[in-house]
Amino acid sequence: MTRPPEQSSVPPEVETQAEELRQSIETHNFHYYVEDDPRISDQEYDRLMQQLQSLEQQYPQLVRLDSPTQRVGPLSERLFADAPHAVPMLSLDNAFSDQELLDFDRRVRERLGREEPVDYACEPKLDGLAVSLLYEDALLVRAATRGDGTVGEDITANVRTIPSVPLRLRGNDIPPRLEVRGEVVMPKAAFESLNGKLAEAGEKTFVNPRNAAAGSLRQKNPEITAQRPLQLYCYSATVPENKDLEPSHYKLLQLLHGWGLRINNEVKLVTGIDACIDYYQSLLERRDELPYEIDGIVYKVNDLALQQKLGAVSRAPRWAIARKLPSQEVTTRVLAVEFQVGRTGAITPVARLEPAFVGGVTVSNATLHNMDEIRRLDLHVGDYVMIRRAGDVIPQVVKVLSERRPDDAESVQAPESCPVCGSAVDHPEGEVVARCSGGLYCPAQRREAIRHYASRKALDIEGLGDKVVQMLVDQGLVKTIADLYRLEVADLTPLERMAEKSASNLVEAIDRAREPALHRFIYALGIREVGEATAKALAGHFGTLEELMEADEEELLKVEDVGPVVAAHIRHFFAEPHNQETLRDLSQAGVRWQSAERTARAESPLNGKKVVLTGTLSTMTRDEAKEALEALGAKVTGSVSAKTDYVVAGEAAGSKREKAEKLGVEILDEDAFRALIQPQQGSGD
Ligand code: IVH
Repeated sequence: MTRPPEQSSVPPEVETQAEELRQSIETHNFHYYVEDDPRISDQEYDRLMQQLQSLEQQYPQLVRLDSPTQRVGPLSERLFADAPHAVPMLSLDNAFSDQELLDFDRRVRERLGREEPVDYACEPKLDGLAVSLLYEDALLVRAATRGDGTVGEDITANVRTIPSVPLRLRGNDIPPRLEVRGEVVMPKAAFESLNGKLAEAGEKTFVNPRNAAAGSLRQKNPEITAQRPLQLYCYSATVPENKDLEPSHYKLLQLLHGWGLRINNEVKLVTGIDACIDYYQSLLERRDELPYEIDGIVYKVNDLALQQKLGAVSRAPRWAIARKLPSQEVTTRVLAVEFQVGRTGAITPVARLEPAFVGGVTVSNATLHNMDEIRRLDLHVGDYVMIRRAGDVIPQVVKVLSERRPDDAESVQAPESCPVCGSAVDHPEGEVVARCSGGLYCPAQRREAIRHYASRKALDIEGLGDKVVQMLVDQGLVKTIADLYRLEVADLTPLERMAEKSASNLVEAIDRAREPALHRFIYALGIREVGEATAKALAGHFGTLEELMEADEEELLKVEDVGPVVAAHIRHFFAEPHNQETLRDLSQAGVRWQSAERTARAESPLNGKKVVLTGTLSTMTRDEAKEALEALGAKVTGSVSAKTDYVVAGEAAGSKREKAEKLGVEILDEDAFRALIQPQQGSGD
């Protein structure tokens, strides 16, 4: 009879192999999750993991709690049980101004009886969830929430799934009992993508990354937590015997890092409170670039003996303070819901809000995306809502405070006809977006089309901003983009705030936009789903607008980025009689979109440059080089003068090279020359 596998004894070489695999995987975890510095490919990592898994399957007695295969362990009875803290988890006092920070520093120095500046550690205050990790003999034995500071909840099973949390600390001289504290956050990008997925599935979304982190750690099923991209940043540690591990906070963080824990690389050591204020300024400026959300900055007296001396009052230490940053979420009221019509006719509901200060600016509108979103939020006019504005993202309504809904709150009705032109609204089955069917008959679509045509990435017409376009459309001066080219100074001066000078500047700017590069022109037409990159690809593929206009689906699908939907939009656009008419009209108004070849030349750094060729090139003949240069708009001349821009010097270049050196003309060797012509080569194909 064969024995059940778990009873077969483990050969010593297998034991060694498993241990080596475990160590190797943990080392790579450290490089990947703690240091952001992977040393092997994902594929190699997966192979190591599979090897360990198969050994553990064959010999289950090899499985240990700290094995990297065991991050999602068996369901724990302990999940959410009381977890008392040996040392209370304190909170922080807040400072809301530079003055309050100066006061804090003065108090610190008074208490310590010192005149000279104090060393402070400056750290981002991460907006997540505080956790305590208990390590015994380097092994993670418990993870807990802060709770009321004295007793938290046991969340070991969930915290184990966070890849940057070591299940076993690495390195030497680790105290037998060590409590590490830190913040668990969900990085901003992960939050956005999680919310995107939840919304798509029609599920409730999280208000902010903090709630998402908290919700993920509060899962009853660690397998779900394991799928949520959480990150831990450690900010302190204690040993119960109250023994100091290091003389300073900063050194303590380095020590923790050496043991395999992730610490924040934005932590900075400074001397004196003025430098703390500088740190605040510089971090505030970079707030949007940080991968996680922060709600403040923490300043800590660096010297641990001084911290001890300063002690704590009630629930906050005297040696630290949190400087708050402008909030990215506030509560306000919805005064109305209006419907805006975009360039492609998409009808978007917008919430008009009681003005509120959020994320550093005053906000009075928030996008509601579409009717599905209004239903998902259950938003009524008159509701109190939580709005959020992070970075330069458009303000969003993240939550309706339904318990505060006034009796006279009104539900939102989708418009049956276009709110601007009254045309019928198309709302195809299965699509979330409703559209006005009016096309360029609709003044809103007309205005947006013109705005788009003039925008920076399109024809970049200076002085044709939103307000001017609005006036031009309202006054009936411009109905299509072709009308722009017929504007005269006298048409413009009657407009509000349009002096003679700005009017003539605008007419000139429009005039300069008569020979657009093909890709810019294609983009400027505003064909649905044809962005900048697709426009470039189309221009490169077809070379002229005429070719593009005549292309059938098969030809369009050959272009990178173009799938059946985009191809249909393109064909539809050029089939529309009013679009054909506009293009004819543009041509009559003297607009000459360039072929892609001419565009490449116009954008080439060699355009108009005088170049002299000398010596022998190894990869092309003199004629080929000349041709390549001329195609890019350069003038190839025979003799070097002060007016020469470049001398291309091949093998055995003689007197011309010397003359160039004397005159300080830039000399290109063959590689530099090829690099200069290379990027343009092929851009027209
Ligand atoms: S030190 C006694 N450092 O802020 C010092 N806290 O009100 C206690 N927090 O819940 C904490 N980032 O979770 C410290 N770099 C940081 C922090 C930080 C975020 C949180 C912490 C606590 C709250 C303090």
